[in-house]
Amino acid sequence: MNKNIVVLVSGGGTNLQALIDAEKRGELGNGKITCVISSKDGVYALERAKNNGIKTHVLPRKEHADISSYSKAMRDLLLSEKADLVVYAGFMTILDDTVCNEFPNKMINVHPALIPSFCGKGYYGLHVHEEALKKGVKVSGATVHFVTSECDGGPIILQKAVPIKDEDTPETLQRRIMEQAEWKILPEAVRLFCDGKISVKDGRTYINE
Ligand code: GAR
Repeated sequence: MNKNIVVLVSGGGTNLQALIDAEKRGELGNGKITCVISSKDGVYALERAKNNGIKTHVLPRKEHADISSYSKAMRDLLLSEKADLVVYAGFMTILDDTVCNEFPNKMINVHPALIPSFCGKGYYGLHVHEEALKKGVKVSGATVHFVTSECDGGPIILQKAVPIKDEDTPETLQRRIMEQAEWKILPEAVRLFCDGKISVKDGRTYINE
């Protein structure tokens, strides 16, 4: 049976595009992207969805006084969309237990570093790459993991390492990590989930291909 994939976005949406392209190539298994929800109006990710005939909603974070009321609104929207899988694809808002408890091990996030390095509150977007360059690590990469109420702390599904070059800027490193890691392991993790190949035990995932 098809699984309804709801993708949460806040920006440019290149990871959303990677998912759309993977679905077109038949690479999301039983998954189908049924809806895109943005925390901001006017972002390019919404155009990408519309260009591909995917339903969109805007749920602006700034119209809610706190995370708790925003999370309740998000939970209700995800339930009304009958989400089987929720994918954070460059979604920059932390949601609380209200959402995590409703969708246990059914929400996944892509993070642009090798967790547990350069992750947690404040580590998002270009900041992650600035910190990796500041520290002088020689490899970074991307991680796809299940979302729990601990920011970037849920069970890890897939990781891919990417080399860092001496001349890298945060922007060049971000681009290489997207191209070589994020755009590959996010669709792959979505396929594994939709085909029922991921199990979770004691905070670890196991892939049963
Ligand atoms: C991506 O690099 C994603 O991993 C990162 O933001 C970028 C969004 O790009 N997400 C986070 O930092 C979440 N903590 P996109 O909108 O083009 O997919």
